[in-house]
Amino acid sequence: MPTEKYTPLGLLSILLLISASTGATEAAIRHPIVLVPGDGGSQIDAKLNKTEVVHYLCEKKTNDFFNTWLNLELLVPVVIDCLVDNLRLVYNNETRTTSNSPGVETRVPGFGDTSSVEWLDPSQLSLSKYFNNIANTLVSKLNYTRGVDLHGAPYDFRKAPNEHEEFFANMEATIEETVKRNGQSAVIVTHSMGGLMALAFLQRQSQSWKDKHVNSLVTLAAPWGGSVKTVKVFVTGDNLGVIILSSGTLKDQQITSPSLAWLLPSSLFWKPEEPLVLTPEKNYSLSNLRDYFSDIDWLTGWEMRKDTEKYSLNFTAPGVEVHCAHGVGVATVEQLKYAKDKFPDSSPELIMGDGDGTVNLRSLEGCSKWKQAQNNGLTPDHI
Ligand SMILES: *[C@@H]1O[C@H](CO)[C@@H](O)[C@H](O)[C@H]1NC(C)=O
Ligand SMILES: *[C@@H]1O[C@H](CO)[C@@H](O)[C@H](O)[C@H]1NC(C)=O
Ligand SMILES: *[C@@H]1O[C@H](CO)[C@@H](O)[C@H](O)[C@H]1NC(C)=O
Ligand SMILES: *[C@@H]1O[C@H](CO)[C@@H](O)[C@H](O)[C@H]1NC(C)=O
Ligand SMILES: *[C@@H]1O[C@H](CO)[C@@H](O)[C@H](O)[C@H]1NC(C)=O
Repeated sequence: MPTEKYTPLGLLSILLLISASTGATEAAIRHPIVLVPGDGGSQIDAKLNKTEVVHYLCEKKTNDFFNTWLNLELLVPVVIDCLVDNLRLVYNNETRTTSNSPGVETRVPGFGDTSSVEWLDPSQLSLSKYFNNIANTLVSKLNYTRGVDLHGAPYDFRKAPNEHEEFFANMEATIEETVKRNGQSAVIVTHSMGGLMALAFLQRQSQSWKDKHVNSLVTLAAPWGGSVKTVKVFVTGDNLGVIILSSGTLKDQQITSPSLAWLLPSSLFWKPEEPLVLTPEKNYSLSNLRDYFSDIDWLTGWEMRKDTEKYSLNFTAPGVEVHCAHGVGVATVEQLKYAKDKFPDSSPELIMGDGDGTVNLRSLEGCSKWKQAQNNGLTPDHI
């Protein structure tokens, strides 16, 4: 579950800085804001017409769409297995794209609106709070209005940019509309993987479009160069901070997501021979990553890596002013170490390094590589 590590006031100060840097006098300029969530940070609705289910408690058919991600009531033992089966993707190695599992239709509600990124669970249980504090602060302190100059840009976070044409089109249309409506260029505010989505979007837009429509990009905790944690998720899964779940519970869904392969460590940030996984018999690094997927018996992960690597290898600067904020000083997994004969079925020892707890420092700092590439005022901030 994405956790909001950034205080609304921290973000507020960045946004005030943007107003100041554009010469706004107090309470004058309000750039419309588009919030782009991270991995797991958009709601997903599902509609079922299945012939088989993984447990008799799982529903087979529904008349309409229902909220499945994130519905906290579904995160309990057994019931969660239904959710995992409904949200797993099936990879087609001919078309090199994914689809839902048989009998499942999904949609991501609320593009342009903020409610679906403010709360992950529409019943608004406080545990599922996401961009809500930030939105409340923008509304109460800076007079923003939801849906008018404050928008959300949710997307199917299971997928990678090779399957996100709809997101890119929605982004362009929403930004054009809000810029026209408000008479000011937009600020794109992202969390985590949302930063990479925004980068992929901006790389596609012409410089003249960006000059006209985008004031700046504010990124919180973007994994610019990927994260070693993904290497771990492919073998152990991740409980998303939900303590009652064992990390393996969600693994069957998570490893089917091309976005997980997209966030594997990038060869722009990790050296080919740097060991990511150590075993007494063999080490795994980017140079033999295929062996890793072969030895954990998930070559689909390798296929997805090949499909998505061109996006992680394109680190062309976004061509807009960037404010890049991230955490530091939190132990973050850097290598997995297995005892003899323990790979891949038992838990590894985690060798930790610096980062924000999820993303390694070198990846978080990736935006600093653009300093020379673009001269329109990049300011990396640590908050
Ligand atoms: C917000 O609106 C109030 C009331 O109209 C006004 O007093 C205040 O200056 C505005 N603040 C900003 C930051 O625009
Ligand atoms: C449900 O799936 C079956 C095939 O498994 C199909 O015959 C039926 O028309 C589908 N129902 C709906 C409402 O789509
Ligand atoms: C796709 O997978 C099938 C079965 O695993 C395999 O026989 C085939 O060669 C693969 N095709 C491609 C294009 O990788
Ligand atoms: C990166 O993406 C941009 C925009 O799509 C494209 O113009 C550029 O050629 C790409 N660069 C590389 C190295 O692939
Ligand atoms: C794995 O890497 C470690 C650290 O670099 C090294 O000490 C060890 O000899 C390597 N093991 C193998 C099997 O190559």
